[in-house]
Amino acid sequence: MSAVEVVPLAPGAFHLPGYLSPPEQRRVAAIVQALADGPAGFYRPRVRGGGFMHCDMLCLGRHWNARTYTYERQRSDHDGCPAPPLPPELARQAVEAAARVGFALDPDICLVNRYGDDGRMGLHQDKDEDASTLDAGVPVVSLSLGDTGRFLFGGFRRRESTTAIDLRSGDAFVMGGASRLRYHGVARILRGSAPPDIELPGRISLTFRQYALEAHEP
Ligand code: SIN
Ligand code: MN
Repeated sequence: MSAVEVVPLAPGAFHLPGYLSPPEQRRVAAIVQALADGPAGFYRPRVRGGGFMHCDMLCLGRHWNARTYTYERQRSDHDGCPAPPLPPELARQAVEAAARVGFALDPDICLVNRYGDDGRMGLHQDKDEDASTLDAGVPVVSLSLGDTGRFLFGGFRRRESTTAIDLRSGDAFVMGGASRLRYHGVARILRGSAPPDIELPGRISLTFRQYALEAHEP
């Protein structure tokens, strides 16, 4: 395995700057673009309070319903289309990033977020996966592409202070173990910061998750 920079932030939380090489970033971008052009592309989720999120989403493997905060097979809060399958080539990148920092991950979900210039995401915990995954600290792995996102890494209560970490194109971030339920969010997107050869507009993040420890139907 080639050398990978690993920045530990807290027990179970790691930033891997430049994890994907430029050719790997272009490959992941091409897969995302093909999915975006497919029968179930990006859409703007509306949350339970009625407002719209500040990013577009495309869920793979299982759909995350923004009204109910649950996973389901069909996009019932949008167009009823089945969630497209998670491409094994994408899943493999997440498995390898997790392994670099000592975690086992068998992802069956990837939420792809697309942020424009005014994109952001409020502080939240990723806690809609099965309790078996949350209890075991099975990590969420993110990959970033395109413009830099200013990621906020917090504590276990919303009001705890946060650390800002710039996630650049190609970076991976792993949050598992004792950090699995930390609050986090995206404060802003640094417009025009993408490498010139990434043809996707704005910032794309891919967050990979394992719904349950054992194979599990909805
Ligand atoms: C998320 O927390 O769901 C997305 C984080 C990111 O875009 O990096
Ligand atoms: Mn999250």
